[in-house]
Amino acid sequence: MKRVTHDRADPAEYESSRGGHFEQRRLDLIAQALRADGARNVVELGSGTGRICARLAERFPLADFTAVEIDEHLVAYGQSTYRFDNLAWSHELPAEGSADVVYSIDVIHHLDDRPKMFDVINATLRPGGVWVATEPNLWHPAIAFAQERMKRQGLGEDHFVPWISEPEFRRAGFVVESRRYCHTWPAAIKTPPGWAKRLEAWVEGSALAGVLGASVVYVLRRPIVGGPVDAGGGRLARMPRVMRS
Ligand SMILES: C[S@@+](CC[C@H](N)C(=O)[O-])C[C@H]1O[C@@H](n2cnc3c(N)ncnc32)[C@H](O)[C@@H]1O
Repeated sequence: MKRVTHDRADPAEYESSRGGHFEQRRLDLIAQALRADGARNVVELGSGTGRICARLAERFPLADFTAVEIDEHLVAYGQSTYRFDNLAWSHELPAEGSADVVYSIDVIHHLDDRPKMFDVINATLRPGGVWVATEPNLWHPAIAFAQERMKRQGLGEDHFVPWISEPEFRRAGFVVESRRYCHTWPAAIKTPPGWAKRLEAWVEGSALAGVLGASVVYVLRRPIVGGPVDAGGGRLARMPRVMRS
């Protein structure tokens, strides 16, 4: 099967490969977090074409959204496709302490310098703010195989490794509030029938979710007391702006 990855595909083709039930589930998951935290300032890190961010901006008209993406082609596509007054685009995370919620979907396993980015995300959140991070589940056999194959093909993919990243979250100052596994049906299954959706709900409520959930979802909170560890003793450095040609 031809793999459509964000750094090789036309933005519209990439977006279409991500659509359907899988995208809807992810959108609902983030929407739930935004409602739970009463978020007003929301940032998506690694927004791709920005469709999820745009749909959320439409659903939450009183909140302000910033779609942060380093790939200029994806940003250009998103800017010309999705126009909402409460949606801004950027190549960098916004000012320190400005976000109520940051979310990222399948981004951590693409980062060159995770610890540094985790520090920056922590600093971007207001104290008490939350980062919702979704990543491919390494324990799902088909996901692990697909990630490994793309990695070997040099498609800019790697695995998300929980036992490496969870200590990194904590070192950056986050409290790991929850980790759960979900999304039984991958993006290739655009419209699963009703019985398949009920099966997915059942799997997600069982111990099988750990190996049959395509995604692992973390809720990471910046505590009100305490904060990011800044070994340098000064202000945390922003992530350098990295542009692809
Ligand atoms: C697998 S794609 C996921 C895109 C989108 N979240 C989605 O689910 O369709 C990962 C995205 O993260 C972006 N990315 C990687 N490192 C980044 C960084 N340091 N800052 C912003 N975006 C980044 C990539 O350019 C890419 O668009």
